[in-house]
Amino acid sequence: MPEYELLSDYPLLAHNTFGFDVRAKYAVRLTEEAQIASLARDERVKNAARLVLGGGSNVVLTQDFDGLALLMELRGRHVIREDADAVYVEAGAGENWHEFVAWTLSQGLPGLENLALIPGTVGAAPIQNIGAYGLEMGERFDTLRAVELSTGDMREFDSNACAFGYRDSFFKREGRGRFVIVSVTFRLPKKWVPRAEYADIARVLENGSSDSPQAIFDAVVAVRQAKLPDWRVLGNAGSFFKNPVIGAAEFSALKAREPDLVSYKQPDGQFKLAAGWLIDRCGWKGRSIGAAAVHDRQALVLVNRGGASGAQILELADTIKRDVYARFAVELETEPVCL
Ligand code: EPU
Repeated sequence: MPEYELLSDYPLLAHNTFGFDVRAKYAVRLTEEAQIASLARDERVKNAARLVLGGGSNVVLTQDFDGLALLMELRGRHVIREDADAVYVEAGAGENWHEFVAWTLSQGLPGLENLALIPGTVGAAPIQNIGAYGLEMGERFDTLRAVELSTGDMREFDSNACAFGYRDSFFKREGRGRFVIVSVTFRLPKKWVPRAEYADIARVLENGSSDSPQAIFDAVVAVRQAKLPDWRVLGNAGSFFKNPVIGAAEFSALKAREPDLVSYKQPDGQFKLAAGWLIDRCGWKGRSIGAAAVHDRQALVLVNRGGASGAQILELADTIKRDVYARFAVELETEPVCL
């Protein structure tokens, strides 16, 4: 049976990017896939609830976790095959996402550059289908392998089985809490087509010389560094709310009242609104309740100014939701997983 050390009363402070000082009753560092199947048979933790933690960058831990935290440290990144159109690259779930993106570029394999500097791990990327600056991970996804927690069996999921949506997948819904993703394979097209239309990126590239993969990577890094707080300095979990999508009739009525409303027409005729703009308009940017605050350069990001609890962040989030609803009659949906 593959060995692992069962840790008790384990501090999760270094395992969540909000920097909440909570503990897990048990924890285990997973460095080999086979350890997960062994865990399924481990009598000591048979009935303990499971919490899978990659970088802890999309989770709000509001209290101590009365179960077993699986700390994902599975490594490895390889080109596994290629066909006429694409190169397929597999990475272990515990690989740091940004380092993985940088590595693909260093191997001459562009395609993920728009997703540079997103915090977290490779294994977490499919769960919320990470996206930024005109690209969603699902567009570069091939398959993933995941272990079913209850049985220890390995399963492969293709794109259909993952049911990717906007910041959404099978693993956030029906599959929630049932699987541990151990590796992800990406399909990187050989013909590179730049994605440089996003306004912030286009603006940076205008001042530069090319739209090479590296130039887009650098532009994304520059924009993110200018707008989004570094969780090592100011705890956060990225965007705290999804950008809401509303119907055409509702949109027209709102736009008539709020001519500056920022919106993006969707292929199905609905409209996606910029939640950051809605929150900003309600006057929340830079404001706080105690140490739980709204970031002063991006109102969609809630931050821990030091010593805030998860419950205080949720209280701030609820207050913002109420204000946005009162002014725009639009409901905001929380994006990170709250526990
Ligand atoms: N805006 C404001 N005030 C603010 C924030 C935004 O007026 O305080 C306006 C901006 O001026 C812009 C619009 O809202 O016109 C959109 O802002 P931005 O380009 O910063 O993007 P976003 O919609 O707020 C989304 C993603 C981010 C991703 C960026 C870039 C979601 C929930 N968030 O943010 O993803 O990096 O687009 O693609 O879709 C994340 O998911 O954690 C995340 C950071």
